Amino acid sequence: MNVLLLGSGGREHALAWKIAASPLLTKLYASPGNPGIGRFAELVKLDVADHSAVAAFCQEKKIDLVVVGPEGPLVAGIADDLRAWGIRVFGPSKAAARLEGSKGFTKDLCAKFNIPTAAYGRFGDLAAAKAYVEKTGAPIVIKADGLAAGKGVTIAMTQHEALAALDACFDGAFGPAGAEVVVEEYLTGEEASFFCLCDGATALPFGTAQDHKRVGDGDTGPNTGGMGAYSPAPVMTPEMSERTMREIIEPTMRGMANLGAPFAGILFAGLMITDQGPKLIEYNTRFGDPECQVLMMRLKDDLLVLLNAAVDGQLAHMSARWSDEAALTVVMAARGYPGTPEKGSVIRGLDEAASDGTEIFHAGTAINGGALVANGGRVLNVTATGATVGEAQKNAYAAIDRIDWPQGFFRRDIGWRAVEREQTGR
Ligand code: AMP
Ligand code: GLY
Repeated sequence: MNVLLLGSGGREHALAWKIAASPLLTKLYASPGNPGIGRFAELVKLDVADHSAVAAFCQEKKIDLVVVGPEGPLVAGIADDLRAWGIRVFGPSKAAARLEGSKGFTKDLCAKFNIPTAAYGRFGDLAAAKAYVEKTGAPIVIKADGLAAGKGVTIAMTQHEALAALDACFDGAFGPAGAEVVVEEYLTGEEASFFCLCDGATALPFGTAQDHKRVGDGDTGPNTGGMGAYSPAPVMTPEMSERTMREIIEPTMRGMANLGAPFAGILFAGLMITDQGPKLIEYNTRFGDPECQVLMMRLKDDLLVLLNAAVDGQLAHMSARWSDEAALTVVMAARGYPGTPEKGSVIRGLDEAASDGTEIFHAGTAINGGALVANGGRVLNVTATGATVGEAQKNAYAAIDRIDWPQGFFRRDIGWRAVEREQTGR
């Protein structure tokens, strides 16, 4: 098979690595890709917003499957447009990608199909939203409806903060994404990420993970796209996974089919495990980054076979096998992230740092004058396996010690919660 992978981050490097291991693969193309992905794929420059240009490329290169990494193109309808040209695509339709593209859409789906989630109100005007906040009180959560690059959520511990967040939203802080807001109940518990591979009718559980969104040790400082992750998530016991499937995922699959927008692709549920059980915080309609990196390290089966089954509606006949080992990834970021990262510093020692069971996925790298340089905020994902999360953590940090990149920084405590659990036996 000829495959085209769209995207350029650590998530896509991990997907490329796994796809390249498949005996089904003839040739992999990636656009735009990155130097790490370039080891497995021919990198091509396509304008991903120009769906006809992507389709023309697929026809010329006889692409049998397009795998879409990030949410932007999905929400923009690339899967529908390529399918209209007869091209097979792994990723949801525009209508199904509303699960990520509109928080209000997802909340209404939850209300309609009785899916456990935070109580909420959905507002298109400031006065009504403010009245709801004044009635409900704080803590409370304010969310821009649309895609806001992970920045559209404010956890307001006071009513004053909540009202200020609403002002900012309706003032255009998030552009059109903030023209509507969701105001919702503040949930407490432990967060976990739950993934399913979906074919429109069947959802196949596809691993669990936990990530660290804050930039600093001890989960402090500003939010980021994710500074590290590990899999599996200890809080997702078999019972909790089973409840998540029954109470959240399966009603979502039925609900989406019922609305005429069956979901096919990766359904990524961000969960809060509360005293009452799992509640949906949000859906993403793609793999997480860096969660994908730890999932790919643990997946024993051929990813391409599974993606094909999802595209062909054959998941009812499939299973996915996972390594008993844990996997953990530490993000190395460029100084300045999550603000403005410094670009251009030289990175050395990656070949020495990688070993059996340790992969270094590129996120924001480039080649400049023959040298590997930092070219983004999150730059490398140092990913290792181990018998326990603690061991995977030890292996990942040992690899980081062998990387020569003084301008990079990283958290030293990725996985702390799981490691603490392992140490105390609770
Ligand atoms: P999101 O962009 O929707 O993933 O939200 C970012 C983060 O905000 C989540 O990972 C949670 O940590 C937090 N969050 C979102 N919604 C809630 C909520 N209703 N209650 C508590 N925390 C929340
Ligand atoms: N790491 C969170 C995400 O990919 O959305």
